[in-house]
Amino acid sequence: MASAEGLLAMVTDRVDPALLDAAPHLRVIANFAVGTDNIDLDAARARGIPVGVTPDVLTDATADLAFALLLAAARRLIEGHEAVRDGRWRTWEPAGWLGADVHGATLVIVGAGRIGEAVARRAGGFDMEIVRVGRDDDLHAALARADFVSLHPPLTPATRHLIDAAALAAMRPHAILVNTGRGGLVDQEALARALGEGRIGGAALDVTDPEPLPAADPLLQAPNLLVVPHIGSATHTARRRMAELSVANLLAGLAGEPLPHPVG
Ligand code: DGY
Repeated sequence: MASAEGLLAMVTDRVDPALLDAAPHLRVIANFAVGTDNIDLDAARARGIPVGVTPDVLTDATADLAFALLLAAARRLIEGHEAVRDGRWRTWEPAGWLGADVHGATLVIVGAGRIGEAVARRAGGFDMEIVRVGRDDDLHAALARADFVSLHPPLTPATRHLIDAAALAAMRPHAILVNTGRGGLVDQEALARALGEGRIGGAALDVTDPEPLPAADPLLQAPNLLVVPHIGSATHTARRRMAELSVANLLAGLAGEPLPHPVG
């Protein structure tokens, strides 16, 4: 690190003052992500190191995954697949594998930025009623109306554990929580309790805190839980475009030019 001039950082890399102090020649940080919660932006700014990100190119892929999670949880796809695979499914039954309607349901989108709006567009195609919750809106009042909740705010000190025990208590017993933002948005102990006690209908998570969750984490034992390994942007096209934007940021920073995709 001591001689590094450019840093291509993954979301799994913690770029903190200790790392920056160990890299006194650093001139640019190119994050291979649109989120920047892994980077101490104030510390980078204080050292005059520009930070680049990968906006837009993963918006649709992430919104697609949010919708895939929503549908999979609503219609119990994983349970159904496992039952068929394990030979537990015997016959078609009138009350077999009942799930939740997606069409006509109310979707609360928390943090209606680029990805949140892309989720809203998909929800429109399913005739869902969409409720957007921004920083100044009453989160709990919105959660009380939700059949589904999709989380998209950036992770900051203000949004850490935004979905805490009180927020989960505001949700209705059938409501399903979808998180493709950051694991830290949710108090996972509270979520494990809410799922275990049947106080919400389910949760479908692309992100957790930490990643991966230790195998013994109580959340993984909770019912009605679906977890996938942070794959929101994991399409061939999105990851190629993220690589292109990251390299463009890196090369511009090394050439002493303004970054084409600086952090907002
Ligand atoms: C991001 O870009 O912030 C994503 O979480 C990576 O997929």
